[in-house]
Amino acid sequence: MCGIVAYIGPREAYPILIKGLQRLEYRGYDSAGLVIANGGLNMYKTKGKVSDLVEYVKDQKTSGSIGIAHTRWATHGEPNQTNAHPHYSQSRKLAIIHNGIIENYSSLKEELIHRGYEFHSDTDTEVLVNLIEDIQTNEKVSLEEAVRIALNQVIGAYAIAILSVDSPDTIVAARKGSPLVIGIGKDDYFLASDATPIIEYTKNVVYLEDEEVAVLKRNEELKIRNIKNKELTPYIQELEWNLHELEKGGYEHFMMKEIYEQPRSIRDSMRGRLHAQEGTISLGGIIDYEQKLLHARRVIIIACGTSWHAGLVGEYLFEDIARVTVEVEYASEFRYRNPIIDEDDVVIAISQSGETADTLAAIELAKQRGATILGICNVVGSSIPRATHAGIYTHAGPEIGVASTKAFTAQVTILTLMALRLAELKGNIPKSRFMHLLAELENLPNHIEKSLNNRGIIQEIAKRFQDVSNFLYLGRGYNFPVALEGALKLKEISYIHAEGYPAAEMKHGPIALIDENMPVVFIAPKKGIYEKVVSNIQEVKARNGKIIAIVTEGDEHIKKIADYVIEIPETEEFLIPMLASIPLQKLAYHVAILRGCNVDQPRNLAKSVTVE
Ligand code: G6P
Repeated sequence: MCGIVAYIGPREAYPILIKGLQRLEYRGYDSAGLVIANGGLNMYKTKGKVSDLVEYVKDQKTSGSIGIAHTRWATHGEPNQTNAHPHYSQSRKLAIIHNGIIENYSSLKEELIHRGYEFHSDTDTEVLVNLIEDIQTNEKVSLEEAVRIALNQVIGAYAIAILSVDSPDTIVAARKGSPLVIGIGKDDYFLASDATPIIEYTKNVVYLEDEEVAVLKRNEELKIRNIKNKELTPYIQELEWNLHELEKGGYEHFMMKEIYEQPRSIRDSMRGRLHAQEGTISLGGIIDYEQKLLHARRVIIIACGTSWHAGLVGEYLFEDIARVTVEVEYASEFRYRNPIIDEDDVVIAISQSGETADTLAAIELAKQRGATILGICNVVGSSIPRATHAGIYTHAGPEIGVASTKAFTAQVTILTLMALRLAELKGNIPKSRFMHLLAELENLPNHIEKSLNNRGIIQEIAKRFQDVSNFLYLGRGYNFPVALEGALKLKEISYIHAEGYPAAEMKHGPIALIDENMPVVFIAPKKGIYEKVVSNIQEVKARNGKIIAIVTEGDEHIKKIADYVIEIPETEEFLIPMLASIPLQKLAYHVAILRGCNVDQPRNLAKSVTVE
């Protein structure tokens, strides 16, 4: 987590740094700060959001054309002004910003204290900057060299940027485990945790790799070395996203914009891959691994958060459509479980950001044991796609709202295409039925467009239940993961406690919670084991629970039992997760707004979780 921005060039750094921080605020927002080098290193930092920093800096001198800036998500030390980044070294000649965790910071700190260093914050970052200073002083080496030597002593993850009073035209940056992108302008350099602060100025970027140290020097070529001191040639790539994709486009919040983008994002995920008229699917990104996937002993999906829920839908899709065995694992559990895995297994890692630390570590573990790793990611060029053997980008476009919406449906779209492609290869679905399934998938964005119009009823439901303390979400089969995701959306942004459950499991516990104050959301389309779900609804009704049901258009039966119904168009069962999750995203949004919550930046959360 944490967002890093830095600039060096002919322009004023301050506005570029602030705008960049605002774009990166989704990565963390409990404190923010910056340093501008202009004679000395002028540091400003404060608790709170980037807007608080702007207010704090308002009447101060910010001129200068080189600077580093940071928005924080606390790991070591509470979020306050002292722990906010940047941090000075003891002599105040160096200033650093850092994203990640230095795991051996306490032993390094002890040694430095022994050597006379004093610490003002509770952070691991202050240890790193003093270690660099100590090396520079004792070994009389350049800043770049001191950074390189220091990083050889560090265990953990870092993305760092450092300024030095003695090298006023240089930024030294390095990464391991936390992302860093360098933007190359005409006569300036930009540095950031992702490309969003850079895209406005240049499309030419270099993604720094693990254990690489970059020197960004005014009027000089970019220099990159690894921490073993090997000189490397920077690989310049062109960015794909546009600036307008990063703005709110008339919506009050990014989350709502992203919810409404779903017909478009799903179409983009399918573009060039789904050929409904020809009855084929082509997945260029994994074409060389299709046979491996088809004959895998096991397919294991690993992911975290919402991406894990997409993985659960994937399990139903792969087994139901392609008859392929799938296990779905939390990456954080998988990596520490000593899993039995070898070269006959295929791992599919799902991640919106492509930077989630647990997912990355799980990939590395599976790779070491010989498994084939495929990725499903949204952010092009991020760490996970680079760590996998092959993969498919979701093409949902940048997702800024911390609660994932369009990335989820795009991930499910890709998993649907993969399951259908495996079925095509296996030939286990009659051609006419296969053609019908593809046509239905192609038509899904139209269905979503239609169902996005039911705002009235969702707002009414939100109003009625905005003050409750608990919600229950129930679904069966394909819709069990939808229940989990619906509950997650609500708790993430409204802070109402919500639980998702398989509807039939309700009787083994959650039913004890049901009384006249408990809203229960059922995902109850007229497909699969509909009658069984209706029985579960009756069980809640009998205990006076309040029933909100997502139903197929025209379902008069449930309408008579439920307190509220939200209709979705009739479609094939395997497409319902995508269709049904959208009203649940909207319900969470409206409840959160009525409760006065910050939907785009919910408390304690971050979009990209680069710590374990
Ligand atoms: C964070 C985000 C979630 C996301 C999860 C996994 O917790 O707030 O929205 O689902 O990380 O992130 P990934 O980028 O790997 O999908």
